[in-house]
Amino acid sequence: MPIGRTGGTRATCQAERRQSVEQTLSRNIDEIIVDPRTYGDEHSYHDAFRWLRANDPVHYATPELYRPFWAVTRHADIMAVEINAKNFLNDPRQFLVTAKDEDLLFEQTGSRKFAENLVAMDDPKHRAYRALTSAWFGAKSLKSLEDEINALARETVDKMIDMGGECDFAAEIAAWFPLRTIMIVLGVPREDEPLMLHLSQKLFGAVGGVEGMAGMVDAFNAFNDYFSKVTQDRRSNPRNDVATILANATIDGEPIGEAERNAYYLIVAAAGHDTTSSSISGGLLALIQNPAEMAKLRADPALIGKAVDEFIRWTTPVKHFFRTAVEECELGGKTIRAGDNLMMCYPSANRDEAAFEAPFEFRVDRPDARKHLAFGYGPHTCLGNALAKLEIRILYTEMLRRIDDFQLAGDPKWVEASFVSGLKSLPVRYRAA
Ligand code: HEM
Repeated sequence: MPIGRTGGTRATCQAERRQSVEQTLSRNIDEIIVDPRTYGDEHSYHDAFRWLRANDPVHYATPELYRPFWAVTRHADIMAVEINAKNFLNDPRQFLVTAKDEDLLFEQTGSRKFAENLVAMDDPKHRAYRALTSAWFGAKSLKSLEDEINALARETVDKMIDMGGECDFAAEIAAWFPLRTIMIVLGVPREDEPLMLHLSQKLFGAVGGVEGMAGMVDAFNAFNDYFSKVTQDRRSNPRNDVATILANATIDGEPIGEAERNAYYLIVAAAGHDTTSSSISGGLLALIQNPAEMAKLRADPALIGKAVDEFIRWTTPVKHFFRTAVEECELGGKTIRAGDNLMMCYPSANRDEAAFEAPFEFRVDRPDARKHLAFGYGPHTCLGNALAKLEIRILYTEMLRRIDDFQLAGDPKWVEASFVSGLKSLPVRYRAA
């Protein structure tokens, strides 16, 4: 349910709009925060979360089509939940799915989980599975990927220049660069990348999107078929990639299960690019809308590390994850009962006035940007966070060095999905420097 935005004369209009937005929010907040369309307009979800932080920061939501949950909107409360993994489990609810779809999944699979992957596991299993690849995603190992990512960045910027000074940056550039990187990590050949992009967009579009369960089950089965073949191949032809680690992985001397292996491929393949591409394209939009920040970054390229943190805070591509309480406890003055579900609203944490100075200002040299919770926090903190930051840093360094004068060439459009979302279209004009 998008929140109304109407035209009119400036001062009265702004006050009237504020009042009408407040009324809409106080009446419909539960439906607004679950509606995929809210996430198709960045103002709508920020208005909703700002209202919750001010009025009911740990809010019991009972939207019509979903099982109830607590919406946790303050930075400090989300950190408190994430760090206490003993009392707040990932199993069995990870993200917003209608009660009907959850029941359908249960009928079809006997489980309420979509897949037995890292985001659905708890300790001790989570720790053991995460340890299989954590070294691969650590800074040391990523160093060996830098040359390949640099080459990819050069190729990407060459392509932009060949396009003659105009492109849809979200669809034609940002969607492909992180996909290529994650496919190098996994060891998927280049000719299969369009299939991977199609399947993961179908998957994320289905989770919290308008397409629903049917799209998700199709995408899920197609991923499994594809990666079962990859496993067979890596057992006979081992290489230096994550697929080889997963194909041959053991825990306590036993080979890992087929379901867990396929789910692992899927989480790496799917989580690794739509997220990063949203920060890449949302970062460019923010720089175009804030020319003084663009100038600051161009004048001092050493700011790129801080700027990347700010792109990620500003865009917060993952809109939520869930946890389920084991024992009754207090959170933000509310009593959470055993078995209650909590939705951690990451975009809200990252605009929390109590955590960030002027959180609605985009600043490439923001000293507090690293406190953002866009990668979550605690034992489930994004496994690929160092990779995502490395990719964005390398691409922007190359792009700002060789391309100048970015301008909007049309209206940006956002994906309508309550789980992972960002720009789907960003028409821009630019010139080679
Ligand atoms: C987990 C965000 C890029 C792989 C997560 C979580 C978030 C997130 C919010 C859940 C954290 C929690 O529950 O505390 C993002 C964002 C990205 C990004 C915003 C880009 C800007 C990547 C990349 C990969 C990746 C490039 C590539 C491997 C994963 C995996 C998990 C995860 C495997 C599950 C970790 C676990 O449960 O132990 N990510 N991610 N992500 N992410 Fe990312």
